[in-house]
Amino acid sequence: MNKNILLCVSGGIAVYKAVALVSKLSQAGANVKVIMTASARQFVNPLSFQVMSKNDVFFDTFDEKDSSVIAHIDLADWADLILVAPATANVIGKLANGIADDMVTTTLLAATGPVWLAPAMNVHMYDHPAVKRNLAQLQSDGYQFIEPSEGFLACGYVGKGRLEEPEKITAIVQDFFSEKAKPLASKTVVVTAGAFYVPLDERHVISTQSNSRIGQAIAKEAQALGANVILLDEKATSVYKLFEQLEDYKKQYPSAFFIHAANTPTTEEAPILSVEGMTAITFGQKVIGEPMVTIMSDKWIDFSDTAEVNGQMWDATDAKQFAQAFWTYILQGERQ
Ligand SMILES: Cc1cc2nc3c(=O)[nH]c(=O)nc-3n(C[C@H](O)[C@H](O)[C@H](O)COP(=O)(O)O)c2cc1C
Repeated sequence: MNKNILLCVSGGIAVYKAVALVSKLSQAGANVKVIMTASARQFVNPLSFQVMSKNDVFFDTFDEKDSSVIAHIDLADWADLILVAPATANVIGKLANGIADDMVTTTLLAATGPVWLAPAMNVHMYDHPAVKRNLAQLQSDGYQFIEPSEGFLACGYVGKGRLEEPEKITAIVQDFFSEKAKPLASKTVVVTAGAFYVPLDERHVISTQSNSRIGQAIAKEAQALGANVILLDEKATSVYKLFEQLEDYKKQYPSAFFIHAANTPTTEEAPILSVEGMTAITFGQKVIGEPMVTIMSDKWIDFSDTAEVNGQMWDATDAKQFAQAFWTYILQGERQ
């Protein structure tokens, strides 16, 4: 994780955990700088943070160490992510009301990037209507929270208010940055897989052979790339219902990727697949609309070891490799 993380430490009993947090974040490859409130310095000497972060610790708005910059603006701009941990009731209240009367709160108001707050306090403080109101305000202002966990609190109470463990916070931060590297993170992907049937009459249906392997692999890979995946893999559902579902999803998620990898039967009675813009993996199915890619195979794709993608033969022996190549191909098309 080659990222700049600014840790703002306010004065709760959990300040000692913030020292461990700096250590964990640094071990995970982050470059960490720390700002402390005056109250935080009552709990832990800034030297601990300095040693752990291998950077100067900031706590005085007017102590400008570098005359070429204004420290609170410079720090706010430097950070890829600002963490306030622990976030006291006091800091939460100040931030919710736009107060900037020390180095932490002044820097927070100068921030334009993501800011996460990890509240930690006595359970009664956490439940106080004023604190709840301030948290709701911050939520609507776009701040993210690392919720406190439940357990024994230093004040002797048991309840919600403990600062989340440093390992867990570090893992959440790592996930956040790896999510950013996921190209389908903000996308919905709807994938059909398996075999749906066409009803012939009240008693008979016509269906196809399918083991869903290609559709499932495409869905799984989309998930690994960060997509919100809707997988329609049904053995006992009519194609009419499937197409209705697809039309509904099309309305619900107009910019989703639609991948049709199910083996829907191709008989006179079968409805024609017509979700506009759908990417179709077909084997003789009737596809209208403007499919972005058509993958053709002379055998049912689920049992075939080759498939044709826009005129080129692809190896489909390994479904996972096929799905990875498929998404690389689709995403290249998106970028053009
Ligand atoms: C021993 C002790 C523990 C405290 N623990 C917390 C705490 O966990 N959470 C909190 O919001 N305030 C706690 N406080 C109160 C804050 O330190 C106090 O509200 C202070 O004004 C916060 O200042 P700051 O937000 O600028 O750091 C504690 C105070 C003491 C004396």
